[in-house]
Amino acid sequence: MSDSRWFEPYRIKMVERIPITTPEERRKALDEAGWNTFLLRSDQVTVDLLTDSGTNAMSDEQWAGMMLGDEAYAGSRNFYHLEDAVRRHYGYPHVIPTHQGRGAEHILSEMLISEGDVVPGNMYFTTTRLHQELAGGRFEDIVVDEAHDPTSRHPFKGNVDPAKLERVIAEVGPQRIPYVCIAGTVNMAGGQPISMENLRAVRDLTRRRGIRVILDATRAVENAYFIQERERGYTGVPVADILLELCSYTDGCTMSAKKDSLVNIGGWIALNDPDLAAEARNLCVVYEGLHTYGGLAGRDLEAMARGIGESVDDDHVRARILQVREFGERLLDEGIPIVQPIGGHAVFLDAARFYPHIPQEEFPAQRLTAEVFLDSGTRSMERGIVSAGRNPATGQHRRPKLELVRLTLPRRVYTTRQLEMVAGSVSDVYARREDTVGLEMTYEPRYLRFFQARFRPLEA
Ligand code: F0G
Repeated sequence: MSDSRWFEPYRIKMVERIPITTPEERRKALDEAGWNTFLLRSDQVTVDLLTDSGTNAMSDEQWAGMMLGDEAYAGSRNFYHLEDAVRRHYGYPHVIPTHQGRGAEHILSEMLISEGDVVPGNMYFTTTRLHQELAGGRFEDIVVDEAHDPTSRHPFKGNVDPAKLERVIAEVGPQRIPYVCIAGTVNMAGGQPISMENLRAVRDLTRRRGIRVILDATRAVENAYFIQERERGYTGVPVADILLELCSYTDGCTMSAKKDSLVNIGGWIALNDPDLAAEARNLCVVYEGLHTYGGLAGRDLEAMARGIGESVDDDHVRARILQVREFGERLLDEGIPIVQPIGGHAVFLDAARFYPHIPQEEFPAQRLTAEVFLDSGTRSMERGIVSAGRNPATGQHRRPKLELVRLTLPRRVYTTRQLEMVAGSVSDVYARREDTVGLEMTYEPRYLRFFQARFRPLEA
């Protein structure tokens, strides 16, 4: 069937009322939230496109599985179901559950990174980099230049630039590189995929130097879809097979199952090396809970095991990605600047082109999240200078090339009509862009400031 005839491969059995608010209520809510969409109450939000993390709708099969939770402290049967599902679909033999992705990142970073180490990666992710830094490491960006250019149409903007990787290895030596961190897809670049060919090249290069490759598998299923769609030799190959091959070029993964795996909470670490796995299991007991539950209830493990199986279904992932694409194309039709190609989990507004008159230190993307909320009660997220934080060595703002707003689509949650409403709202905000000014930050927390910072609008 042609892509233009995609449709959701499910029907809706239960609905949830969403709040509809007045402009005055939204302005009051935003003032109370310090102009930070993370500090709004969900009851104040009409269409919630903050994140695709933990916001997915579970299936009847997953809900039925919730009733089969084995809540034993140790050796819950649901753990073994999860282990089977990860082995079958990701291919790693050793599986350690964690409460979510950053729990896995914490354990992995503490286990592998020593003071002064360097972790090269295909663009940073906020929590991933922070855990690398807290463990004494430094992140080095080795993604292709095109990833930092919102207008580049490169089909695999998540690719590693092998020359950049070679340079880092030459500079610090392979013994200072505990692993190369590869994300598929790359969230901060706009949900952009890495190609199989590129990952294979990274594997060859690192194997020769004795360096591990760890996959951030959070959205690897979505990455596999792009490979099926765009890479020579993969047309018609099931997403499930592509995912297995992708993982086969890595030594392990961290996972936020709250994305691809269609659950509301959960994650895991998976590894090939039995000794590393034993160490990860041991650290799991310290931070997360026994290694057969990792901070989760048995019912959560069951929902995750079933969600993994559903997530690799070709019809599911195709509908997911094409819904995002159709939404993005609607915005393009309105002349709105967005990151292209349209990525897997979200449409990213390019705030630098949306508000060229607002300097980056006045937080144009943060302001844009506020304007879209004021207009229609749609919640989005800043992915620019606020998210990038400060350089720990200098204390200065990091100034990312990308100053973006993410409109993120939860899986199986919103209808096309709701997304049309949002596109209309963004279009109205764009029409009055010249009257909009920036913000100043009035409170800045120490870690991951975007979650809790507060702002105030500058005078027009
Ligand atoms: N890696 C990637 C690529 C992510 O997108 C996230 C979370 C994590 C790791 C951490 O996982 O949240 O389960 O602890 N991303 C969310 C988002 C927060 O909105 O993009 P977590």
